[in-house]
Amino acid sequence: MRPTGEVGFVEWERARRRLWRACALVVLASSTGCAASSPSVLHAKGPAERQVTGLWWSMLAVSVVVIVFVVVMGGWGVVKTRRRREEDIHRDVPWGDRFILISGIGITGAILVAFFLVSLRSMATLARARPSSVEITITGHDWWWEARYPNGAVTANEIHIPAGERVQINLRSADVIHSLWVPELAPKIDLIPGRENEMWIQANQPGQYRGQCAEFCGLQHAHMIFFVIADTPADFNTWMQDMAAPALAPATPIAVQGQQVFLSNTCIGCHSIRGTSANGQLGPDLTHMATRATIGAGTLPLTPQTLTQWILAPEQIKPGVTMPPTSLTPDEVRALVTYLLSLGFKS
Ligand code: CUA
Repeated sequence: MRPTGEVGFVEWERARRRLWRACALVVLASSTGCAASSPSVLHAKGPAERQVTGLWWSMLAVSVVVIVFVVVMGGWGVVKTRRRREEDIHRDVPWGDRFILISGIGITGAILVAFFLVSLRSMATLARARPSSVEITITGHDWWWEARYPNGAVTANEIHIPAGERVQINLRSADVIHSLWVPELAPKIDLIPGRENEMWIQANQPGQYRGQCAEFCGLQHAHMIFFVIADTPADFNTWMQDMAAPALAPATPIAVQGQQVFLSNTCIGCHSIRGTSANGQLGPDLTHMATRATIGAGTLPLTPQTLTQWILAPEQIKPGVTMPPTSLTPDEVRALVTYLLSLGFKS
């Protein structure tokens, strides 16, 4: 209730202004947050997501019609009641029961059943197996993504696909439940330990599409980011061949030293570098790691500085990560970083 008296009024005004400021901040923060870099489910860039977007818009349109109808009827009822005399209020409305039955149960039920049927049709379309130009197996790990291609190429957190083609994705989990979600390309599908799920994905145009784990999977769930990179079919084939090739041999003395550091330390317990004796399977394959744009599954851009920080103290960048810190000397770390950043493609 609005207080009376001068002191009460001043306090009330202050509180009111604070509330307005807080509301404005929330609106500003949410709008700028959404605009910054979050992909939107409403900007469909492929046929699978278009199915979902179409359904969403039709649900929104019908909901708006229903809400407007309910508000208008409610308002109309209030106005009519105010104008009536006391004895009129309790008078029976002859069509009242029929109206409640038809609009409240009949039309509402029909809308819900219609949306249920349309949703079933969309789900069937999305689940139907179709001929696919390439089949990728994606495994979710705490907290990164592994992608394996039919020709032996293995990579992490950057999943290349040919643009304009339907791509079959097989989904597995190495530990807990994760959920693969590329808002602009496809609805989210869970990766469940002990079972294999399937989905298909298609990007109409070449480009980079951000994805995110959409099922809470532990401390670094929010840093389980990935990118789907749609290349032209020719570029994709070149990429897949390059990615399947063994690692480049170190070309400089410092890179040779870096390779020795890698192969003689605990790195090889978790990481593979194809073409060397490093054959660990717990962490990301590093055969061509210099071709990737980020480390820690989208946590930081890949640069000599961030890679150095990551090797020295991964826990400080991504608390909870299973990679242990190292006790290498500064020279060894420098050589190791030089070697890892030389692991590009041949061409
Ligand atoms: Cu994986 Cu959340």
